[in-house]
Amino acid sequence: MFNGRALESKVAIVTGGGQGIGAAVARAYGAQGAKVAVVDWNLETAEQVAQSIRGDGGQATALRCDVSDRTAVDAMVAATVDRLGPVDVLANNAGITRTAMLHKMTLQEWDQVLAVHLTGSFNCLQAVVGGMMERRRGWIINTISTAGILGTIGQINYGSAKAGLIGFTKSAARELARYNILVNCVAPGAATPMTETIRTDPRFKDTYLARVPLGRWAEPEEIAPVWVFLASEGASYVTGQLIGADGGMSIH
Ligand SMILES: NC(=O)c1ccc[n+]([C@@H]2O[C@H](COP(=O)([O-])OP(=O)(O)OC[C@H]3O[C@@H](n4cnc5c(N)ncnc54)[C@H](O)[C@@H]3O)[C@@H](O)[C@H]2O)c1
Repeated sequence: MFNGRALESKVAIVTGGGQGIGAAVARAYGAQGAKVAVVDWNLETAEQVAQSIRGDGGQATALRCDVSDRTAVDAMVAATVDRLGPVDVLANNAGITRTAMLHKMTLQEWDQVLAVHLTGSFNCLQAVVGGMMERRRGWIINTISTAGILGTIGQINYGSAKAGLIGFTKSAARELARYNILVNCVAPGAATPMTETIRTDPRFKDTYLARVPLGRWAEPEEIAPVWVFLASEGASYVTGQLIGADGGMSIH
């Protein structure tokens, strides 16, 4: 699909890169010539992904970081610059869910989800953007969800955080366009263990799948190329956009 050089010599941070969609994006970036910082609060899984990228002939390093912790994020970006060079690409992907019906959701469950998705993305954006502004180049890709577009049951924290990231993407895109920094977001379809319940529980499986025009679940590897495109020169006139890699679920 790409020629193996679509991201050649770019330095990319992928948060939540230790598993799932982030791991697939990190591997796809590595396969396209990027030097990849695989960032996760689980260093063991991040190291496994970095090793697999290196094993395939790419360049990668693993870093432990909780994206909701600003001090840790600043240290992670400094370590990335030190090991790989100035950051060109940021894929904000780290995520958690804390599922509960809204009348039962605790303030802690609300805060935790917003802290990782929304504040975590802001922390990482702020930590890399100064260097991008100086060099007048940058590609930022935020991971949202159909939950932020269509709403969802039992995850008002998650749906709110993801909807917030759409506004975050559009505002950052407008503000950073003058620096040639492109900011877009991707809404993946149900693809990984995070959505295991939806994909396997008979109470949800069929009704959910009936809302997906392509009628099947995604593989992380088949949607990762969208993140490659948005980090590539091919996306040079694309900013502030939301791309659904969701089997058509968010068509409206
Ligand atoms: N899986 C899906 O079907 C689906 C659908 C729509 C959107 N998404 C979004 O895609 C992204 C990736 O989801 P996934 O399914 O691959 O999830 P996953 O649970 O498989 O992986 C998430 C990764 O993020 C890491 N992480 C969590 N909190 C962190 C933190 N505070 N700091 C650093 N790392 C942290 C985890 O350790 C894990 O490796 C998330 O933003 C998620 O909301 C997923």
